[in-house]
Amino acid sequence: MDYHQPVLLTESVEALQIVADGVYVDATYGGGGHSRLIVQQLGANGHLYSFDQDEDVLPNLITENERFTFIHHNFRFLKRFLRLHGAGQVDGILADLGVSSHQLDDAQRGFSYRFEADLDMRMNREGERTATDILRTYSAEALQSLFSRYGEVRNAKTLAQAIVAERERRAIRSTTDFMLLLDPLVRGNRNRYLAQVFQALRIEVNDEMGALESFLAEAREVLRPGGRLVVIAYHSLEDRLVKNFFKTGNTAGEVIKDFYGNIERPFRILTKKAQLASPEELRRNPRARSAKLRYAEKIN
Ligand SMILES: C[S@@+](CC[C@H](N)C(=O)[O-])C[C@H]1O[C@@H](n2cnc3c(N)ncnc32)[C@H](O)[C@@H]1O
Repeated sequence: MDYHQPVLLTESVEALQIVADGVYVDATYGGGGHSRLIVQQLGANGHLYSFDQDEDVLPNLITENERFTFIHHNFRFLKRFLRLHGAGQVDGILADLGVSSHQLDDAQRGFSYRFEADLDMRMNREGERTATDILRTYSAEALQSLFSRYGEVRNAKTLAQAIVAERERRAIRSTTDFMLLLDPLVRGNRNRYLAQVFQALRIEVNDEMGALESFLAEAREVLRPGGRLVVIAYHSLEDRLVKNFFKTGNTAGEVIKDFYGNIERPFRILTKKAQLASPEELRRNPRARSAKLRYAEKIN
């Protein structure tokens, strides 16, 4: 099976407006779909730095290409690792957020309720806490908050209380343990409900919102003026952070004024509305259905 079918591939790579001798970053290598298309467009002095925190991408890296460097780290530390590799300012940065099909479809990883596995859900298997750790240690309030914020789970409070009551009786270690608890609590469409609960836990395990915030701030610093930042988001909260950041330079979307009252506008926004996958792409790849592409050019 394919590692991952790239989403909005031509649209997002075109948005980078690649120049042959430019320096680019793909923050989310995954199956390398976007990285390969970028490298193809580089000339002798061009370079691509690709990040991914999951070691599973390693067997599938672009090889024997002096224009490509892989960085096996979290993109939240973009600036530090680019500096470490001697990259100065860059011409364009792409991030295709979330998880890959490989991660969702690998039964062992615990990302999916479709398979029996330990409730792990770490993209980086050296990460400190798993989904089990969260279910074991978080207070009912913290659980409720993550299920309602990241999963929009309708009965988040009931679910949080059920987890706290259940863990007094037995450990919740595997997807099966968790499903036994979830099944009587399902509201509405079962698959949708379960997907929302699992997604919320995954976002918390990997601190996906925290990583995105740090990434956006660092991307702004490492981009040269005129450079492009291109982001594909799959979750409405992520998309909102990106949209706010492009508008105001901060993810809260707070308008910042300088001493003279001039409003800070760090980016020229090139997508007034998020771009979506075409009907043709959706037919080929249903996983593209929640994708939202936004891009902007750095002014300062
Ligand atoms: C949607 S996939 C990218 C797919 C890729 N564009 C392709 O076409 O093959 C997202 C990838 O980003 C990685 N990832 C997610 N968050 C990350 C982070 N904070 N730091 C580094 N990698 C991350 C995941 O491990 C996953 O492999």
